[in-house]
Amino acid sequence: MASGVRDSYAQRAAEYTELLGSMTAMHPSDVQLVTSWAASVDGPLLDAGCGPGHWTAHLAGQGIDARGVDQVPAFIDHARAAYPSVTFTLGSMDALVDPDETYGGVLAWYSVIHHHPSSIGRALAEFARVLRPGGQLLVGFFLGTDVEPFDHAVVTAYRWPADLLAHELTAAGFAVTETHTRTVAYERPRPHGAILAHLRSAG
Ligand SMILES: C[S@@+](CC[C@H](N)C(=O)[O-])C[C@H]1O[C@@H](n2cnc3c(N)ncnc32)[C@H](O)[C@@H]1O
Repeated sequence: MASGVRDSYAQRAAEYTELLGSMTAMHPSDVQLVTSWAASVDGPLLDAGCGPGHWTAHLAGQGIDARGVDQVPAFIDHARAAYPSVTFTLGSMDALVDPDETYGGVLAWYSVIHHHPSSIGRALAEFARVLRPGGQLLVGFFLGTDVEPFDHAVVTAYRWPADLLAHELTAAGFAVTETHTRTVAYERPRPHGAILAHLRSAG
């Protein structure tokens, strides 16, 4: 499945970058939430599943030590060319190369949406591993009333009820601090959720 997601994005990377690879295409409320959250992060910040790198570059532009990782070579090539002063790494968030306790924060903005519900814990465990004690996590996702797959424009994605995704974060060692949701008439754009959490201390 992971290679299916990677290959699907690889085939449409240029189109995705054109349509969604800039901050002007982001919802103003999301920009406000992510930017203010990132400003509170103590230490380097990993933009996990950074795609074309616009969020990473935006946060780096705020003076944050933000770095991006994505599994799609075309996204990383684009990001490195467009934002040469920012560090981007090709790799999977399910097996990060970073040592334990590298980051103060992990941003997973619509990047765990394609994980099958039975495997999302792998990415969350990696986020917990690379975060420092008390480190912060922000997850953006498609909101739903059930955990269910749908035909996302690129490849199958999953909607999550906020409480069930929060349960996954709790199981991975996080304490959920805030949940944000946004719904609109006719479900366009799609209902949205964001969960803020921090890594619980051991014991
Ligand atoms: C919907 S896009 C979001 C990109 C970016 N975060 C944004 O908000 O525009 C999902 C991204 O997650 C990446 N992704 C999905 N699974 C991944 C994995 N296991 N490792 C690294 N990147 C992954 C995809 O390659 C894609 O770039």
